[in-house]
Amino acid sequence: KNSDASIMLEAHELLKKFYHHLLLNTKEGQPALDYLTDRGFTREIIEKFEIGYSLDSWDFATKFLQKRGFRLELMERAGLLIKKENAGTFFDRFRNRIMFPIWDHQGKTIAFSGRVLDKSQEPKYLNSPESIIFNKSKTLYNFHQARLHIRKHQQVVLFEGFADVIASDKADVPYSIGTMGTSLTDEHVKIIRRNVESVIICYDSDQAGLNAALRASDMLTEAGCYVKIARMPDGMDPDDYINKFGKDKFKNDVIGASLTIMAFKMQYLRRGKNLQNEGERIRYIEEVVREISSLEKAVERDHYLRQLASEFSISLDALKQQQLQYYKAER
Ligand code: CTP
Ligand code: MN
Ligand code: MN
Ligand code: MN
Ligand code: MN
Repeated sequence: KNSDASIMLEAHELLKKFYHHLLLNTKEGQPALDYLTDRGFTREIIEKFEIGYSLDSWDFATKFLQKRGFRLELMERAGLLIKKENAGTFFDRFRNRIMFPIWDHQGKTIAFSGRVLDKSQEPKYLNSPESIIFNKSKTLYNFHQARLHIRKHQQVVLFEGFADVIASDKADVPYSIGTMGTSLTDEHVKIIRRNVESVIICYDSDQAGLNAALRASDMLTEAGCYVKIARMPDGMDPDDYINKFGKDKFKNDVIGASLTIMAFKMQYLRRGKNLQNEGERIRYIEEVVREISSLEKAVERDHYLRQLASEFSISLDALKQQQLQYYKAER
């Protein structure tokens, strides 16, 4: 008399092991293994993250589960199978994909994300739908393996992709976790804050990643975290960076050189402006003062106003007056 949830978990556990076996030990899995090897995934990493491969077949998982006595209706609710509405039959959701198990925070497999091998296929990552065992907005990828390191180092690094978390772990940053994509939820924030104060956001260096990093930093700051944002050359993501420049540069020049939110915003506001030009310089200063006025802590506002005053030789009084105007307008 097992509950539906425990049967779903059992199915995930069995399939995870089988996908892993297919990747490592079969001819069918070889192209997927070659692909991962080319991307710098070692055998050790593949084992640690329990990565697998789903066959190019419509009914491999269906038959695998049926043979072991799982009710296919339940497996459909678990997101592993899809039902053909008119025929009432089932087929595999994940076909010919590299399979990343998604664990809950105790390490039980509750879902999968399958990546295509071939760039032309869509979507790049296919995820299990939410189910009674998989609540996406509460799940942080790799949290179960990172938790002790997060506690010990009193630090967490937050990524947007699976490959980024894995590459970072490989680069000896084991306090790495990920959202699945760029949307951080209030539940994620609560879980992070319960475990650690200091958070480094290391999202992709593209427009989506940048916007998401600013949004995430606001949410985390509001929850009482100390937030920094890591920067990489435009267009790169952490996995690209580590593969290209190696782990020491990643640790020193990306993680170690991460910026406070204000420093990050200042760098951002500077982009495309010629600060030698008087008009652009004044606009830049005003934009920065506006950002400063949105800071909660008076100590921080004072700190950045002084910094700005000295960098541009403006009187601190003038900056304070200006900031007060913005401050009043906003509250
Ligand atoms: N994602 C998703 N569905 C997609 C695309 C992305 O769920 N169709 C999620 C995945 O969790 C992915 C993350 O968003 O890891 C970040 O997306 P992206 O930066 O596009 O992918 P990468 O992690 O860089 O993937 P890869 O390096 O394998 O190309
Ligand atoms: Mn450690
Ligand atoms: Mn991205
Ligand atoms: Mn990416
Ligand atoms: Mn990537």
